[in-house]
Amino acid sequence: MTDHSKDSFAELERREWATPEVAAGYARDFARAADMVVPALVDGCGAAPGQEILDLCCGHGNVTRALLATGAKVTGLDFSPAMLEMARRNAPGATYVQGDAMATGLPSGRFHGVTMGFGMPHVPDPPKAIAEAARLLRPGGRFAYSVWCGPGVESALVYVFQAIADHGDPSITLPPGPGANDYADPAIAFPALTAAGFQPPRREIVHSHWQTGDPAAPYDFFLNGTARGGALLRPQPPECARAIRQAVVDQVLEHHGSGPVWTIPIPAVVISARQS
Ligand SMILES: C[S@@+](CC[C@H](N)C(=O)[O-])C[C@H]1O[C@@H](n2cnc3c(N)ncnc32)[C@H](O)[C@@H]1O
Repeated sequence: MTDHSKDSFAELERREWATPEVAAGYARDFARAADMVVPALVDGCGAAPGQEILDLCCGHGNVTRALLATGAKVTGLDFSPAMLEMARRNAPGATYVQGDAMATGLPSGRFHGVTMGFGMPHVPDPPKAIAEAARLLRPGGRFAYSVWCGPGVESALVYVFQAIADHGDPSITLPPGPGANDYADPAIAFPALTAAGFQPPRREIVHSHWQTGDPAAPYDFFLNGTARGGALLRPQPPECARAIRQAVVDQVLEHHGSGPVWTIPIPAVVISARQS
């Protein structure tokens, strides 16, 4: 059994995303929903031919690739060597930097646009990442980021975390860190963006989902391809793992019918704002 409480949140995130199997699992399965959010991110940062765009937390390069397709000059940044290796293959026209989204070391005012696809839930200090995006943008440049919608919505994410709360081994915990859905909430996100110098933000819901022939897919996708969910799921003793998996299947059958193909929602929010 694993008690993660002695790890810092930052160490856990670095270790999990650096694990090649987690990075590959995210790219293969989980990102099928994240890919549906890419157009809103590209639109939100205002990418256009010849512009310099930075893709923070670029992962395996799904957003990077779409940014390149606009004709922009794109830099992808991520701290995971495993992710960067995939990004170099998936989106070969970009420049890649291994670094931390909260302190990139890149020059101030260099970029017309900055994106951050599903990076915000993973940085230990989101206001610091927002301030870094503001610093990197030219005046009038745009920042766009995505976060999965949180509790109170119909979502695979809610099914999985509720199943962990109900059936997981209570000794398996995460180190303290920001909430996974905090920065989808305008009451948290908008003041942080405004404090960093952004103009009033825009918030858009994207109805991303997984289409699958397996009602246990959300369990498997979180188990094999996420940092926070995976760190809670992978160390579960077999009887807890079985109960969590079954609870997720029950939710899918109850809310999305008897199959044989399920469309399972995992909606996201895209928030974008212009630098003053
Ligand atoms: C959920 S994946 C998102 C990948 C891709 N952007 C997308 O939209 O699907 C999160 C990515 O953020 C990276 N990451 C997390 N914290 C980071 C940090 N502090 N600095 C740089 N990269 C970070 C991880 O390595 C991982 O590639």
